[in-house]
Amino acid sequence: MVLLFRNMKIATLDDIDLTGKSILLRIDVNSPIKDGKILDISRFKAHVKTIKELAELNTKLVIMSHQGRPGKNDFISLEQHSEILSSLLGVNVEFVKDIIGKDAKRRIATLENGEILMLNNTRFLPEENVEQPMEALSRTKFVSELRKFFNYYVGDAFATSHRSQPSIAGFPYIMPSIAGRVMQNEVSALSRAFNGHRPITYFIGGTKLDDAVKIINHLIKTDSADYILTGGLVSLLVLNARGYEVGTAKALLQEKFGHLLDNAKMIAKSNKVMAPLDVVSELNDGNVSMQRIDKIMGSPKDIGEETLEAYSEILKNSKTIVLRGPAGVIEDKRFKKGTIELAEASLKSNAFIIFGGGHFLSILEDLPPELRKKVSYISTGGGAVVYFLSGEPMPGIEALAYSYRKFFEGGDHVKEG
Ligand code: 3PG
Repeated sequence: MVLLFRNMKIATLDDIDLTGKSILLRIDVNSPIKDGKILDISRFKAHVKTIKELAELNTKLVIMSHQGRPGKNDFISLEQHSEILSSLLGVNVEFVKDIIGKDAKRRIATLENGEILMLNNTRFLPEENVEQPMEALSRTKFVSELRKFFNYYVGDAFATSHRSQPSIAGFPYIMPSIAGRVMQNEVSALSRAFNGHRPITYFIGGTKLDDAVKIINHLIKTDSADYILTGGLVSLLVLNARGYEVGTAKALLQEKFGHLLDNAKMIAKSNKVMAPLDVVSELNDGNVSMQRIDKIMGSPKDIGEETLEAYSEILKNSKTIVLRGPAGVIEDKRFKKGTIELAEASLKSNAFIIFGGGHFLSILEDLPPELRKKVSYISTGGGAVVYFLSGEPMPGIEALAYSYRKFFEGGDHVKEG
């Protein structure tokens, strides 16, 4: 049965016979990193099913993913990622330190059936970091160089499907393309599960401010949320827009996110948008202290006790809760408490609760087992899940639907039954 997304059809692994074919598979194993090491392997575990299934079909399989963003500490090679996949799968996932250069192409061309190859971080190619319409993406060097080696593209990177980048939406424009199991499960489960009972509370944390501003704007405009609780750098942007000094974060916001400050002021005016009352801050001497927001010193790194109390009260009475992005710098255990307690407060409510993205996946093991069981749905997507639920465009999914119309409609390749 084909997959349905907003009434558009997408082929799945059940629909097309991929036995013995050359497959280009896009997954998302972008993970939290500390000191160059991967901290959490939840996304890897999610993609194992798709990879196993494709490997069992004796395919020639080439895997792509991104990791981090240019200029950030988590922008590293995928060598470790290929090792983790090898150990989870129990078969060798060979790593090539290249994407579209001679080494990659030579190895792809000589790949035998049953072999699995992983290319390097797709975002090492500057082209991958530019969002464009599908048609333009399909004309990039990235897509033009690789497409000729493959019969099919399999899109499994639900967590990146809100990005219009070559490895996500460029290949499906010109190649027969299919949703992998992660994509299929996320799209069908989220469409089914999210009944939107109100009050709906979104928690938006983390450091991806461009996305956060866009999402919060959309939630306000479309009246899709009753409360929007903020944490992480997102909350400091809101506090700053409301006139607070926010310690050392102020300079960072002005330097790197000056383009968002006007929009942030608009968002900050909404009474649906809640910001912290206090924060946990790291002082210049390395000590940590709890501070009220009108007296922030040093570098704020987590939400404080009073904030947790106020947020918990809202969460307790919510019917639907979507958690996206951490409340603090959870890579450092001194600043993990806010995110863990926020998750606990959500799970103590009777709401339908969606955990979105790598950071919330990574704190699951910090929660008591009886609460862990109460998560209604765990998505591999962070930003993607909020874009999806709030009706924003999803280029990675729309591209698969476009490919279905172009290559499969009419049923030539689609299996019977
Ligand atoms: C995520 O973690 O949300 C996805 O991997 C997408 O990453 P990006 O926000 O850097 O595009």
